[in-house]
Amino acid sequence: MRSLVVGTGSYAPAKVLTNADLEKLVDTNDQWIRERTGIRERHIAAPEEASSDLAFHAATRALAMAGLDPADVEMIVVGTVTPDYPFPSTAVVLQGRLGNKKAFAFDVSAACAGSMYALSVADRFITSGACKNALVIGVDTLTRITNWKDRNTCILFGDGAGAMVLKGTGEANRGLSTIRLHADGSLVSMLLQPGGGSREPLTAETMAAGRQYVYMKGTEVYKVAVRALAEVCHEVLEAEGLKPADVTYVIAHQANKRILDATLQRLGIPAEKCWMNLEKYGNTSSASVPTTLDEANRAGWFKPGDVILMMAIGGGMAWGGAVLRW
Ligand code: COA
Repeated sequence: MRSLVVGTGSYAPAKVLTNADLEKLVDTNDQWIRERTGIRERHIAAPEEASSDLAFHAATRALAMAGLDPADVEMIVVGTVTPDYPFPSTAVVLQGRLGNKKAFAFDVSAACAGSMYALSVADRFITSGACKNALVIGVDTLTRITNWKDRNTCILFGDGAGAMVLKGTGEANRGLSTIRLHADGSLVSMLLQPGGGSREPLTAETMAAGRQYVYMKGTEVYKVAVRALAEVCHEVLEAEGLKPADVTYVIAHQANKRILDATLQRLGIPAEKCWMNLEKYGNTSSASVPTTLDEANRAGWFKPGDVILMMAIGGGMAWGGAVLRW
């Protein structure tokens, strides 16, 4: 038994923030942002839109494509680091919003690798026969924890949600065949939200110090990302007995165009095989991989049996790679 992706969906909030808009907030310019990151604009959640609201739209679209009634979903797993509430989980809020009573629901926290971690967990429930279907979401509203005075980070992030519906299949050569996850907890200080948890609860002092915002050592993250992504891609391909030349398409976390170009170059995979959308969304964290999968899917990229290489990395550091045979 393998997990087959039978529906995809995504959602980006209506408000768009361009590089020109950012020039009015911090000392930066469109050319610097485009050359260093490839980003032109990003979407920003409205004040009344929480992560579960974004997730709801993406989920509804994916379930419609799958032809699955929301009431019949058996498992909901959401990758996010910007939940609606510290508790309960965004997955539970989403379950209520979908009018579903059947599914168990929980979040996983792996920053920008959240959707890969969520996909891996759901896959285990499907392949073990514990669930017949699963709704996997990646959603983040990182702009809620972005410091709009920090030009090192505020240019990078956008909000969004992506969804995948999984079902079990016995078909040979189709479905999620290998998925590998990794983490390196010695790198926690490289990319994190220091305040707001049990270590530094939010107080007037911690907030005045900006501890509630994303903190990142960009250049170091960049180096780790390229190395880790290339390694995990080689690992999953080798596990399948595949070579980079066997990959039909790449669906990758859209962190930075230079990270993706360097990773693809290391793998020897042509950039044309990788669906890119960070130009219009920026880095949407956990939403990135399922949104990218959905766009490529709706554009008609995939046919049964195609070998899709998936990869993502985020704060932790935490990362993962997968081979999905469409
Ligand atoms: N606009 C203009 N200048 C900026 C700037 C901005 N938005 N942000 C930083 N700079 C300046 C720096 O202050 C520095 O100036 P200095 O040389 O006078 O000190 C210069 O540009 C170079 O900064 P540096 O941080 O070395 O740039 P970089 O080439 O490493 O690019 C990132 C910065 C953030 C784009 C890059 O490191 C990166 O993409 N890292 C990975 C980030 C990421 O993907 N994180 C999420 C992973 S899931």
